[in-house]
Amino acid sequence: MNHFGQIAAKLEEYQLDAMLITSHPGELYAVGFQGEGTALITPDETYYFTDSRYMEAAGKQIERASIAMVGGVRSHGSLTREAIERLGIRRLGFEDGDMTVAAYEKWKGQLPGCELIPAGRLLGGLRASKDEDELRCMRQAQRITDLAFAEILNFIKPGVTEREVAARLVYEQLRLGAEKMSFDPIVVTGANGSLPHGHPGDTVISQGCFVTMDFGCVWGNYCSDMTRTVAVGQPTDEMRVVYDTVLKAQLAGIAFARAGVTGRSIDAAARGVIEEAGYGAYFGHSFGHSLGIEIHESPNASSANEEAMPVGAVISAEPGIYIPERFGVRIEDVIVLRQGGCEDITNAPKQLLIL
Ligand code: GLY
Ligand code: MN
Repeated sequence: MNHFGQIAAKLEEYQLDAMLITSHPGELYAVGFQGEGTALITPDETYYFTDSRYMEAAGKQIERASIAMVGGVRSHGSLTREAIERLGIRRLGFEDGDMTVAAYEKWKGQLPGCELIPAGRLLGGLRASKDEDELRCMRQAQRITDLAFAEILNFIKPGVTEREVAARLVYEQLRLGAEKMSFDPIVVTGANGSLPHGHPGDTVISQGCFVTMDFGCVWGNYCSDMTRTVAVGQPTDEMRVVYDTVLKAQLAGIAFARAGVTGRSIDAAARGVIEEAGYGAYFGHSFGHSLGIEIHESPNASSANEEAMPVGAVISAEPGIYIPERFGVRIEDVIVLRQGGCEDITNAPKQLLIL
């Protein structure tokens, strides 16, 4: 899968002669190839420059691009310069959000006579709406995560540590076909559950505790993301109330979520349920973030986002309640926003499971 055509079609709108892609996520989106290269996308052609470690694979996997090898005096900069001089490129877009100041200065020095124009928004706008090929990969990644959750339920019991659960989640997802993890799994139990992004440690699971697991994998270069909280032994009445509140909030957010509404309003639909139940002070983060090639992308379903969400945005739906020193609950699915509603691509059960 590549997105040469989509990027080329946007060049005119951004008044660019070509787009220079230098970041790893940008390369995955534009070229669909896992390497370390530079892509130059013009209205009619794509150029991809990489070194000998990736040349053979690039030649096999990248269709309809002119591929040239970097090495010795033939640097990314000199190959790019040759191409832009030959093609008369004057206005060259670059990924301003993903380039260090030092790299920018270097590129500027290597491309005299060519204006480097910040154009990260061009790629960001395209990446915010997933197409069917991207969704196919995300569904498969999510399916692997769902299956790993089913497996981990057989493994969780008193005496097992957070770290052991995290290791098992990594193993299961790889065994089920994942390319890698989309982030290091979060596994927290008992009082650690109030740490939304706690690191799995040596704390052992005990009777009457919650275990929160936040994990996901990469398949076809695209991420999945899921959180489930399960009880080991009987939870207290208060733990049940908190669990039910988080679930109701998540369902309210999902019921409201659609393209065309602001990220803020989606967040508010879920947050209102938690506030009404009296737990508003314990829900500090936002309802959701976009994900795709990266685990955190834009736009967000957060109180800070006043922009309308685009059709095809894929966001997490992940409210939580975290009571310091006591326990926490988070439930997270991944949803695709469409006109008039959304599709939940997470299928793991989310009623309270008592193991
Ligand atoms: N699941 C990790 C995160 O959303 O930050
Ligand atoms: Mn998430």
